Amino acid sequence: MKTLRVLTGITTSGTPHLGNYVGAIRPTVRASRLAEVESFYFLADYHALIKVGEPARVQRSTLEIAATWLACGLDPEKVTFYRQSDIPEIPELTWLLTCVTGKGVLNRAHAYKASVDKNTAAGDDPDAGVTAGLFMYPVLMAADILMFNAHQVPVGRDQIQHIEMARDMASSFNHLYGEHFTLPEAAIEEHVATLPGLDGRKMSKSYDNTIPLFAPKDQLRKLIMGILTDSRAPGEPKSTEGSAVFQLYQAFATAEETAALARAYADGIAWGEAKQLVADRLEREIAPLREVYDALIQNPAQIEQTLLQGAEKARAIATPFTRRLRHAVGLRPLQ
Ligand code: TYM
Repeated sequence: MKTLRVLTGITTSGTPHLGNYVGAIRPTVRASRLAEVESFYFLADYHALIKVGEPARVQRSTLEIAATWLACGLDPEKVTFYRQSDIPEIPELTWLLTCVTGKGVLNRAHAYKASVDKNTAAGDDPDAGVTAGLFMYPVLMAADILMFNAHQVPVGRDQIQHIEMARDMASSFNHLYGEHFTLPEAAIEEHVATLPGLDGRKMSKSYDNTIPLFAPKDQLRKLIMGILTDSRAPGEPKSTEGSAVFQLYQAFATAEETAALARAYADGIAWGEAKQLVADRLEREIAPLREVYDALIQNPAQIEQTLLQGAEKARAIATPFTRRLRHAVGLRPLQ
């Protein structure tokens, strides 16, 4: 019996990178193979509009992220795989949640707060350039999660606050209108919670430091060789602490392989050699997936078809649930 609902999404604002893979795609695809798990995966394209004002980029990213999920082993027959904007009930639920969410709570959301702090430090109007979309981002995300009453949400560490906010919104709503929502929990892969990028900061589209998951083999190797390291020479012991090269390896290797690299660090492995090991290890895992991806990306019509079928499955849940919520809040006669 399916007893655990797992749900996660990726924003369609760019090319999927290694951080998305280890933080969200790989753990969810693995979980989806467990008999007791019912999985929901989606493309967060409404979220993309908050950051991207380029229609062609959103389109391309939607295709790339869909092909990535499929190439990484998602079986659309067994899971519910859909595009957020195909589910009109999600923006409707966003509004219902907006009405039980304190503005003060949203003031504390990391992304919004970061923009305000940056403006304030520059002596500008705190809200300069901040859209209401950015401010409302956590509510739209809560609607994604609560619509399907997900128990677990596999995400990278950067998303924990959003899941906590979704829990709070679910509690407030339940308190006011009765028990309608499950309180979701973030599921974090501890040893790879935040994958660093080329410059050592969190790998992120916004920092322009990403390694595309399906970069061709040579490009992948070249990017890995370019990861920022300290200037310790070959032979000098190196610290695994805060080493992007080490963390990347750890995200892909077994515990024994990782321990072996830690020993090599202590013995003063040259950076070039360590990077070669990372490139080899990544290539071993990614090469077979890349082959499937390269074939899928040539067939957008098939991907579109898969997404539309997934939307039908998702709406078979979302439509009756929204009807129930409309009654619960009094938009329709109480039942
Ligand atoms: P997004 O598109 O920024 O990232 C997608 C997923 O990848 C994870 N991730 C990382 N994990 C480890 N290391 C990194 N460097 C790294 N970079 C990204 C993110 O934590 C995320 O799990 N708001 C979400 C999308 C979303 C969503 C949802 C997720 C919308 N609605 C509902 C879960 C449930 C986002 O922007 O993710």
